[in-house]
Amino acid sequence: MTDSLTVRDNRTGAEYDIPITDGTIRAADIGKIKADDDPGLAVYDPGFVNTASCRSSVTYIDGEAGILEYRGYPIEQLAEKSSFLEVAYLLIHGSLPTKEEYDAWVHEITYHTFVHENVKSFMQGFRYDAHPMGMLMASVGALSTFYPDARNIGDADNRHIQIVRMIAKMPTLGAWSFRHAQGKPYVYPDNDLTYTENFLSMLFKMSETKYAADPRIAKALDVLFILHADHEQNCSTNAVRSVGSSQVDPYSAVAAGIAALYGPLHGGANEAVLKMLRRIGSKENIPAFIEGVKAGNERLMGFGHRVYKNYDPRAKIIKKACDDVFEVTGVNPLLEVAQELEKIALEDEYFVKRKLYPNVDFYSGLIYEALEFPPEMFTVLFAIGRTPGWLAQWLELVQDKEQKIARPKQIYTGERTLDFVPAEERWA
Ligand code: SDX
Repeated sequence: MTDSLTVRDNRTGAEYDIPITDGTIRAADIGKIKADDDPGLAVYDPGFVNTASCRSSVTYIDGEAGILEYRGYPIEQLAEKSSFLEVAYLLIHGSLPTKEEYDAWVHEITYHTFVHENVKSFMQGFRYDAHPMGMLMASVGALSTFYPDARNIGDADNRHIQIVRMIAKMPTLGAWSFRHAQGKPYVYPDNDLTYTENFLSMLFKMSETKYAADPRIAKALDVLFILHADHEQNCSTNAVRSVGSSQVDPYSAVAAGIAALYGPLHGGANEAVLKMLRRIGSKENIPAFIEGVKAGNERLMGFGHRVYKNYDPRAKIIKKACDDVFEVTGVNPLLEVAQELEKIALEDEYFVKRKLYPNVDFYSGLIYEALEFPPEMFTVLFAIGRTPGWLAQWLELVQDKEQKIARPKQIYTGERTLDFVPAEERWA
């Protein structure tokens, strides 16, 4: 027995031996299967449900078992014992930092949290009610014009400084998007504070000289950032890699990732979950809502996952973090609706048959709302957490000799060789 397929093309009788490596076959080998003068077979896979696009050592997921590891470390251990900036270092550099490396990393990020004043006036140009994700996407893209040297993606030191800048400035841009929507003055970074405390200060500081974050809230947010830090080839990471494959600068590639994350089927789901729970309102309304989902009238947001066909390990940890936050803020009344909804769904054949379990977005919104974030900010929080993951994946892409510019094939279904009739004749 060998690690290969023998494929027989019944159109020609020809047989092809196709090697199996790492649980995959190469599409290029399928392309060698030809009949007559056709260009060779291609693989049709909408949404890349069963297509590997790259080799990566950043994140490992076992969807059936509900396992998630960053650079081999189980997410449960990182959430309990690490910090977001240490996890960011791990994702970007591939190993845990020494004390000197960690201190240097934290120093660099702390001292790159400011943005050019023109970015502030750029952001002030948005409508008063602009969605913070739209502002974040545009502002990160705009950063590419402030750092034109970022196009030099072949230089390791240049890549490093752009990565530091993006991890450092994402909370500043996210907080300013929030303050803009509230009509409040923007708060500048405070370099005496930790990464998450500084983010909270830029969000909530008013006339006090120094913002004092509740350490339990800062810790809960730090854990949430860890849980969102990377997730292998999800939709937004695929966008970062696809756009990055044109060798554009990393700000433009990450702006594309933010755009993808904005969608309600992806990062926008946490905002959609809160709105769904508010619409359900009480436990009594759950059976009718579930019937509506089963009738196909809507989706149970925060449930289901392309990879996890088991409970999302991050949802378990977030559910536990809820207790820590609610100790400070008081229990979110929608928690009861969420828990009852989860209980009913996990027993209902419709969801069991489709292996639909709570994902990372199901409970995170409850914490964010308890922290007084409006639903429009939830995906901004997801984006801040996911930034090191996007950048770690981008780093792999630009250094992967096998990678080429992303340019998939298509199945053409349109007309062919029509004769064009000029407008004046068509309309005569
Ligand atoms: C994230 O990929 C990642 O890693 C993403 C993420 C990350 O960290 O980057 O984990 C973050 O995006 C989490 C997912 C957040 N999205 C939501 O919670 C939105 C609701 N969930 C879905 O729309 C859906 O489950 C997806 C998009 C997450 C996954 O969709 P798939 O893999 O394309 O599955 P599918 O749409 O083909 O659904 C399979 C079946 C279908 O039923 P049938 O057509 O076979 O009858 O399950 C049904 C779907 O209708 N289904 C749901 C459902 N999700 C799937 N039915 C009701 N409610 C749902 N939530």
